[in-house]
Amino acid sequence: MTEKPAKRLFIKTYGCQMNVYDSARMTDVLAPLGYAPASSAADADMVILNTCHIREKASEKVFSDLGRVRAFKTARAAHGKDMIIAVAGCVAQAEGAEIMARAPFVDIVLGPQTYHRLPEMVARAARTRDGKGSGILDTEFPAEPKFDFLPAPRADGPAAFLSIQEGCDKFCTFCVVPYTRGAEYSRPPSDVLREARGLVAGGVREITLLGQNVNAYHGAGEDGETWGLGRLARALADIEGLVRIRYTTSHPRDMDDDLMAAHRDVVALMPFLHLPVQSGSDKILEAMNRGHTADDYRRIIETLRRYRPDMALASDFIVGYPGESDRDFEDTLALVREIGFVQAYSFKYSPRPGTPAAALKTQVPEDVKDARLYELQAILDAQLRAFNVACVGRSFDVLLTHPGRHPGQLVGRSPYLQAVHVMADPKHIGTVACLTVVSCEPYSLGAVWADAAKDAVKTA
Ligand code: SAH
Ligand code: SF4
Ligand code: F3S
Repeated sequence: MTEKPAKRLFIKTYGCQMNVYDSARMTDVLAPLGYAPASSAADADMVILNTCHIREKASEKVFSDLGRVRAFKTARAAHGKDMIIAVAGCVAQAEGAEIMARAPFVDIVLGPQTYHRLPEMVARAARTRDGKGSGILDTEFPAEPKFDFLPAPRADGPAAFLSIQEGCDKFCTFCVVPYTRGAEYSRPPSDVLREARGLVAGGVREITLLGQNVNAYHGAGEDGETWGLGRLARALADIEGLVRIRYTTSHPRDMDDDLMAAHRDVVALMPFLHLPVQSGSDKILEAMNRGHTADDYRRIIETLRRYRPDMALASDFIVGYPGESDRDFEDTLALVREIGFVQAYSFKYSPRPGTPAAALKTQVPEDVKDARLYELQAILDAQLRAFNVACVGRSFDVLLTHPGRHPGQLVGRSPYLQAVHVMADPKHIGTVACLTVVSCEPYSLGAVWADAAKDAVKTA
């Protein structure tokens, strides 16, 4: 019997790390059907666009990319070859019917909660596909959590993502996530620990726990108790071989005492936290329905730094939320200067259909948003550079994860999530090395082995 040729799967991932995790899981569920990764969409038997709806630009990009994929499908058809096109993720969830109508060449539209059913959908698509809009749409929020139906993920390198929480019940007035990802759900701690042990057995040394509101985690323990993220982190830290734990993205409202104290007690918890504040103005924070003030945020940071003095902070910011005055924006700049964020994502407010803020009459003009974003980013960028410069001459542990672009070079992550380059043998991949930083580029650090550092710093 001749072996069936492997089918090629190409996934393009937009948006957040939850989507990165989901794309990896879609690859896993399709592997038993004979799909192996393709290097480009042009020669794939199946293309999945795993989409993001968070801002207008992200959503629009999907339709332009679909045009390109359609051309590949047509070119393949001329050679008698098929291509299944699927749109997954948050645009699929929010605009599934519109995608089917605007792009009838799309075979499958599936939401973030249904991709465990992808094999069935692919089989059905192969039977029913006619390119005339009779595609498959599955954007339910099924009662069965998809995690129960997914195969155990395989380790792929020393650093891995592990999704522990999904969805959001907070309904910030600007945000689509509660609509695209659904209600908050936490996986049971026993599942998380099992998945983590499997990853560590496969060589993983660092796990980043993922969730839209990861610190709202409240998993139902087998002991009858509800576990928060602090307790989960402590249990994970007991896994032999797991040396680093991170989590993202957190919400200030869910930064409870136990989790903050875990940063003091659990060595594996890295001293870098992405804790989006969005704005430094109490008026805007209230209008956004964030549920905390700027001072609440300051107090959290104060506590965290008391527990872990080297804690580095990252954030997200929105400028030009409806009604944001110059004064409100100044409050944001003041908070940024005070906290000294070492990394941040900042965005112009983008009105999203169906969210309360989109209907407000007090929209900020585009040129004002542009100017504010420019000013904010200049400060954030300067802070990032200052932090990197201050690292030169310091030694810290770096988890070496993969080869760099230059021969003989390895890349790793510092405790503060900076990319670090070092000349080293590939056998060190997967180890934590004590390195001394000798140089700094805008977005990465150059380092040498700590015991070789003295000379290097002298001659640098
Ligand atoms: N759950 C996280 C954020 C998830 S969305 C939190 O609560 O902080 C990721 C980021 O996208 C947000 O932090 C916000 O800064 C940005 N964002 C979300 N909706 C947006 C919108 N309508 N316009 C501009 N930025 C937006
Ligand atoms: Fe969106 Fe707010 Fe939920 Fe974060 S907490 S996902 S910003 S609604
Ligand atoms: Fe985007 Fe959905 Fe993530 S809207 S940011 S892909 S949760």
